[in-house]
Amino acid sequence: QCLDGFKCKYLILLAQDKLLAHISELESVAQTFGFKLNIKQKAKISPTTGKTDFTKWIILQEIAEENVLKLMSRSVCAMSAFELWGSGSDFSLLKQSILEYPLEQKRDCFKETQSFAIRVKGIGKKMSSEIQRERIDLLEDVLPFQGKVDLVNPSGEFYLVEDYSNRVQGQPPKEPDAILFGRLLCNGQRSLIERYSLKKRKFIGNTSMDVMLSILMTNLGGINKNSVVCDPFVGTGSLLIPAAHFGGYVIGGDINYNIIHARGRSSRKGAGWRQKDETIRHTLMEYGLRSQYLDVLLCDAACHAWNTNGKELFDAIITDPPYGIREACQKVGSKKQNPVVPELEPGLTHFPEQTEYHLEDVFKDLLNFAAQSLVAGGRLVYWLPVYRADYSPKVIPTHSLLKLMYNHEQILNSHSSRRLIVMEKLTKENVTETAQAVISSSVFSGHNSFRDKYFS
Ligand SMILES: C[S@@+](CC[C@H](N)C(=O)[O-])C[C@H]1O[C@@H](n2cnc3c(N)ncnc32)[C@H](O)[C@@H]1O
Repeated sequence: QCLDGFKCKYLILLAQDKLLAHISELESVAQTFGFKLNIKQKAKISPTTGKTDFTKWIILQEIAEENVLKLMSRSVCAMSAFELWGSGSDFSLLKQSILEYPLEQKRDCFKETQSFAIRVKGIGKKMSSEIQRERIDLLEDVLPFQGKVDLVNPSGEFYLVEDYSNRVQGQPPKEPDAILFGRLLCNGQRSLIERYSLKKRKFIGNTSMDVMLSILMTNLGGINKNSVVCDPFVGTGSLLIPAAHFGGYVIGGDINYNIIHARGRSSRKGAGWRQKDETIRHTLMEYGLRSQYLDVLLCDAACHAWNTNGKELFDAIITDPPYGIREACQKVGSKKQNPVVPELEPGLTHFPEQTEYHLEDVFKDLLNFAAQSLVAGGRLVYWLPVYRADYSPKVIPTHSLLKLMYNHEQILNSHSSRRLIVMEKLTKENVTETAQAVISSSVFSGHNSFRDKYFS
């Protein structure tokens, strides 16, 4: 704990994040726990490519340690958090900075009864064990540890971090840009990526969402214990699993009968027909999350089954709508002028006719659904596919009841990307006009608007 009257700084090491969404994630988690995070960090520009570079670490100031622990209890972008004892652009500045760090704040760790381990980590460069030893020796005179070294289960674990990530012509610089030293507080939630790995999951489809991204979306969605979370394009339910893990109650809908009722062929190569237990309910059960399952419905997002009757049902909607690349964009409907709906014989299943569902309508329906059914302050998190040459902020669908919070690009290939969009529902008092979703650009109009460009 930080001593009374002294303000500790905390170093957060970040995982590779091509979406550059780590700050959005940390801010969202802070908001979920009811505190504000002020990260003033300029984007780093790569000297070689001129593009925004990935930030590998950040320092948090003016924050209580318990709040750092809360952030780390959720973050998938943060790898580890440390109480920062010192930093500098070279070793003498680092040592000076460690010396200046109040002794009372360090004293307990130096006690004879406290075992310790010092680990050396290079960012952007491998540190040989010889160099690691050399570095530890260099710190000896400023770190008067009295306890025993214990590399397996130490009472205190310390890290020396050297940042070589600013590469020049593909090579790490000779000297690090920054050297940091701190006491490990805890790790983030990267281990969940393995725990919920798609490789080990029985029920998957060819568009099952990557686990890291599913956790990130859950955090951006502000999901917490007892949140009610809906995915209207639920597929195999990958987005609902982290939501359930963090205490949300989950519900979803999908138009695909086979997915909802565990029929048809499994997406796993050579696995044959889907088995009865290839359902979202079973998946949650296997993860010990059965209590978080509300239901999944066979239904059409264009005419959804949740008649909210003006009630705001959901705390978050997190979803990955179909773009027409690996799954069809379809809705219930007919091209015939006067389609006849057959009388249903009891016990027989009727598969309604389906027709094209243009992306423009997919997104308008989604935003209108979110505006209707989210509680005030609730969040919509979804992916928007974009042909990169077409992109401008104008292509992002808007709704006067939904405020755009974040927009991060994930590049898929040289011509296409998808954007992770986070919107927050405003209170009705803030809006006077009749609220309807608007897409001011024409890039999503017409059938297969994204697919045709993607394959052209
Ligand atoms: C990109 S996938 C979602 C995958 C899902 N996130 C997962 O992890 O498995 C889109 C899903 O939307 C469903 N879908 C397509 N059109 C729909 C509609 N009109 N209403 C509801 N679901 C629809 C598809 O069947 C598909 O399962």
